[in-house]
Amino acid sequence: MNPLTTAAATRLLQDWDEQQSAYVAHRENRFAVMLDVLRLHFPGGKVNVLDLACGPGAIPRRVLQAFPHAEVTAVDYDPILLQIATAVLTEHGTRARVVDADLATPDWPATLDARPGAVLSSTALHWLSPAQLLAVYQAAAALLPPGGVLLNADHLRFDDSSPTLRDLAGRHDETTQREGFAAGALDYAAWYAKAIREPELAALAPVRNQRFANRPPQPLASLEFHLAALHTAGFAEVGTVWQYLDDYVVFARR
Ligand SMILES: C[S@@+](CC[C@H](N)C(=O)[O-])C[C@H]1O[C@@H](n2cnc3c(N)ncnc32)[C@H](O)[C@@H]1O
Repeated sequence: MNPLTTAAATRLLQDWDEQQSAYVAHRENRFAVMLDVLRLHFPGGKVNVLDLACGPGAIPRRVLQAFPHAEVTAVDYDPILLQIATAVLTEHGTRARVVDADLATPDWPATLDARPGAVLSSTALHWLSPAQLLAVYQAAAALLPPGGVLLNADHLRFDDSSPTLRDLAGRHDETTQREGFAAGALDYAAWYAKAIREPELAALAPVRNQRFANRPPQPLASLEFHLAALHTAGFAEVGTVWQYLDDYVVFARR
């Protein structure tokens, strides 16, 4: 079977970006803030970035294009998305590494062959249970040197104590999705259906289905939980560098 071409993978990443932007308002602003922090914190953008749950390569591609001296290790557990990320990032040669690992297990750090200076993630860690999230933050803290940073962009849902904010954020999400899909974005299921029209990706669907069977949505982890977990994990300074309704970019420094 022919490998997925970079052109086909890049088109799927573009469709993915449109699809994700229908679920995440101002998604590009989140990435812009992450790149700004890297630019300001690491002179010349010379940094080794670890992207946790990279999907088809949204963060790695943006980092590698913005910073000619950066390197990225991109981790995910979905074989279809890993295949797309690998093809998308081929043009960056040895500056990009794609790693197949399950962040819900304790052994994923052992699969890495480079120590990061920054750990990034977007729209992903909510798939972990609170205990698994704390373990990932602890592993990130252990991997990073003093001064290293973590940036996690995600919806951190408001709970029962903030009913008005929860209502506003929920109604804004509905509007964002309605407008995104009306403008032509695929929804999550339709994007996967399109991806597996590529024969080499269709062949990976059974593995994907088996890996993600029995992984139900996890209990809500609030902003306060994330900040406390990062402190507990050993980060010296924690806060936020961006917020829009219930969407945040959380920052932590070792
Ligand atoms: C909504 S996507 C976000 C992808 C990418 N970060 C982005 O913003 O475009 C969520 C990602 O989390 C990954 N993921 C979920 N659970 C995971 C796990 N236990 N280990 C590694 N990756 C996981 C999925 O495979 C998927 O790529």
